[in-house]
Amino acid sequence: MARSATFACQACGAVQAKWSGKCDACGGWNTIVEEARAVPAGALAQKRGRGRPFSLDDLKTQEAAPPRRATGIAEFDRVCGGGLVPGSALLIGGDPGVGKSTLILQALSSFAKSGGRAVYISGEEAMAQVQLRAARLEVSEAPVALGSANCIEDILATLEAGPPPDVLAIDSIQTIWTSALEAAPGTVAQVRTASFDLVRYAKASGATLLLAGHVTKDGQIAGPKVVEHLVDAVLYFEGERGHHFRVLRAVKNRFGPTDEIGVFEMTGRGLAEVGNPSALFLGDRLASAPGAAVFAGLEGTRPLLVEVQALVAPASYGTPRRAVVGWDGGRLAMILAVLDARAGLGIGGSDIYLNVAGGLRIGEPAADLAAAAALVSSLTGHALPKDCVFFGEISLSGDVRPAPQAELRLKEAAKLGFRLAAVPAGMKTAISGLELRPVRDVADLAAFAGAAQERPRRIVRPGVVE
Ligand code: TYD
Ligand code: MG
Repeated sequence: MARSATFACQACGAVQAKWSGKCDACGGWNTIVEEARAVPAGALAQKRGRGRPFSLDDLKTQEAAPPRRATGIAEFDRVCGGGLVPGSALLIGGDPGVGKSTLILQALSSFAKSGGRAVYISGEEAMAQVQLRAARLEVSEAPVALGSANCIEDILATLEAGPPPDVLAIDSIQTIWTSALEAAPGTVAQVRTASFDLVRYAKASGATLLLAGHVTKDGQIAGPKVVEHLVDAVLYFEGERGHHFRVLRAVKNRFGPTDEIGVFEMTGRGLAEVGNPSALFLGDRLASAPGAAVFAGLEGTRPLLVEVQALVAPASYGTPRRAVVGWDGGRLAMILAVLDARAGLGIGGSDIYLNVAGGLRIGEPAADLAAAAALVSSLTGHALPKDCVFFGEISLSGDVRPAPQAELRLKEAAKLGFRLAAVPAGMKTAISGLELRPVRDVADLAAFAGAAQERPRRIVRPGVVE
């Protein structure tokens, strides 16, 4: 056996040839640890020449790919791209306590009830704790095979002794270790090796592998980041503290789209699917107050209405304060500069607070118009019409640009009882029951939002373009 030693940073996973006090890659101090891995002598030589390339034509003649496995939890299946792909590996990352174990146990129970073979291995909780959770989720009678283990060799030996499961869940990857390494469980080397062995098992047996992984916001603990390139799909389970809803988001998916989200609500009896998230995010809106605008957004294939709230206050210190929750701070700075330069609002010297209600994070540029409307409304003290939605991207010239899938957004707004939509000028889409207010540029927006309740609306009848 030849031994090869490397030095890996426990914060970012960077591998270095020699030890040093500071990681060159992430700048962390005292994060580099020596990792030794036993490599069987000659193993590489034996394997050379095995990966014979196929042409795509050859592959076509082979049997068709096995169908996807739906878990029966529609929000979860949709984010995966329509069910779990046999032989694939999926990482579900998220902060501790966000609900990863709950989601996985519910998905497995639902899958097992419909006749699939599901195995759940917990490295964190004892069997009794998993059973307690199952009782709380009211899934105790589901035929899920439970195990409590940490050693990868034990887990693989047990799995290989029986028929392979259809779905195998490991909760969490940080608690699994291999006896072939001296490094402590949870270190980069352990996480990487255990994941690699599990992924190899999944590919060989056709089981779908679900890995749960904790991510901490400050990135202190060696974690799923080093696993991301090993797996076929990475889903993040997010939720703001103090809010009861959770969003499952695909950030990498070899077998489906990466812009889908699944929305869940954490209840006393586990996660409940939220079929109509707009209703949830707009649920407890008060009667029109200045500084609140509803954004007709899109998450993947689904329209989603959320409220953007702004507060513009006189700056108390020399440098004005900016605080943004749920949106990009750089984007806010750009919108403020454009409002100042193109609409002459003089807003940039004030303290600005912007918040996306409900704790959702918006990444779409189409939210610009809603954010700008909320800012103008707060600055002038005029509330926007309560039944109005906004969408459109603002360019540096101050023009309002079209956003994709306008019809989907407008339909969702009409469905939820909105009667007016401030949209990019020149849009031809018409939805019955919804009036369109074309907005040409930020000066036009300032005229509309700054005096929304006094001025008569300029209304375009469906089909008529200005
Ligand atoms: P958990 O799935 O253990 O989180 P993770 O695996 O991501 O660390 O979820 C734990 C949180 O969820 C905990 O704060 C309690 C809450 N919870 C409920 O509110 N209702 C429930 O039915 C369950 C099972 C958990
Ligand atoms: Mg857990």
